[in-house]
Amino acid sequence: MSAPDRLRLMPATWAAADGTVVTIRPIRREDLALEQEFVSALSASSGYRRLMSTRRPSLEELRRFTDVDDEREVALIATTLLDGKERQVGVARYVKESTADAEFAIVLSDDWQGRGLGTRLLAGLVAAAKAHGIRRLVATTHADNVGMLALAGKLGFKAEIDPRLATIANLTLDLAEWPPVRGGPQIGS
Ligand SMILES: CC(C)(COP(=O)(O)OP(=O)(O)OC[C@H]1O[C@@H](n2cnc3c(N)ncnc32)[C@H](O)[C@@H]1OP(=O)(O)O)[C@@H](O)C(=O)NCCC(=O)NCCS
Repeated sequence: MSAPDRLRLMPATWAAADGTVVTIRPIRREDLALEQEFVSALSASSGYRRLMSTRRPSLEELRRFTDVDDEREVALIATTLLDGKERQVGVARYVKESTADAEFAIVLSDDWQGRGLGTRLLAGLVAAAKAHGIRRLVATTHADNVGMLALAGKLGFKAEIDPRLATIANLTLDLAEWPPVRGGPQIGS
């Protein structure tokens, strides 16, 4: 990614309903310790939803998650300050699969789920994907992941049960049609 492109991913702030200020910014190599702490605090259920597996990511994977390949990947993390110390509370990323398509994933710490942060973080990732010329964002999730399906539906993704595996739902967002016309789902609010 060129320097001007990076500038489009400047940090943003968002206030939760209880007034807690969340910073959303691109992940950096220096965030490895934050990411480790974040991943190890995730409940088994959230970790399973994110990786679609009960395994925990290895140190090598966490390094890859934080030291991203700017040419094909964008990762946004959400952080708050706790006793003056930065704490990671979520991360959303996409990785380009071809010139047009990218696959995304998102996970929030358990205490931040259901508070609107997923909407804000994923809307930010969608906006970054659009700005970087991605035409389609896709993801797979468990067909019973009601939280992810609700979030995806809110942002305009289509959800379809995988024809080969009924426990999996495929999510697709055509960025040519994004943002939706007025009267449709509200993005980034
Ligand atoms: C899935 C996830 C990212 C959603 O983020 P979130 O911050 O909890 O979602 P939001 O609070 O922004 O809610 C978005 C919409 O979904 C709805 N929603 C969220 N969780 C829900 C749930 N468990 N059941 C029903 N609806 C739910 C909200 O009501 C909201 O709709 P509304 O604005 O019309 O009220 C988050 O719950 C998470 O990290 N889950 C674990 C990891 C995971 O499943 N990742 C997806 C793998 S691809």
